[in-house]
Amino acid sequence: MTRPLVRRGFTVTAVDESAHMLERVHGARTVCGPIATLELDERFDVVLLASCLVHAADPGERRALLRTCRRYVARDGCVLIQREPEDAHQGLPREREIAGGLIRVVSSEPVGPGVRSVHVEYVFPDARWTQTFLSRPLTTRDFDSALAEEGLVVDTYLTGDRTWVRAVPAGPDGGRP
Ligand SMILES: C[S@@+](CC[C@H](N)C(=O)[O-])C[C@H]1O[C@@H](n2cnc3c(N)ncnc32)[C@H](O)[C@@H]1O
Repeated sequence: MTRPLVRRGFTVTAVDESAHMLERVHGARTVCGPIATLELDERFDVVLLASCLVHAADPGERRALLRTCRRYVARDGCVLIQREPEDAHQGLPREREIAGGLIRVVSSEPVGPGVRSVHVEYVFPDARWTQTFLSRPLTTRDFDSALAEEGLVVDTYLTGDRTWVRAVPAGPDGGRP
């Protein structure tokens, strides 16, 4: 994600707890560590929480992620959040083409209260791999409440499928400033 942003002229600070992933980042400052314990002395015009991390299985982890977003966004800045599509766990298996390859969501099974285990296959001409991860689906109401808990509020949905959301620091009454 860093590369197209840098190409478009943005100054990017890329945070990831995987040093291996950060080795692939060029043209941007990198910070290696968990988002939840990030310690920086600055604020940003835009904070980006991608990869559906807002669906963390552990609500404490989700709160910590959103708290970090709120902490580092400038007063008049925004937080861009990627959510799962609303039908992410229905109609499986399902596949879509991406960048010359295929992503197949094979299954989504309940594994605990409000938590599902999702199994995904990635098929590309030169590589195939699978990933299994936990997800806590969030209704629009759950999502709004999760943001409100950390002082954020939805400003607008940026895509027709409502997966990309622009949130802003909430005003004193908890609504949009
Ligand atoms: C789907 S990958 C996206 C990688 C890269 N940002 C990109 O756009 O290609 C998700 C990344 O999030 C990182 N990640 C997941 N949870 C994290 C957390 N709590 N703190 C820091 N990094 C995290 C993983 O290490 C992984 O590299």
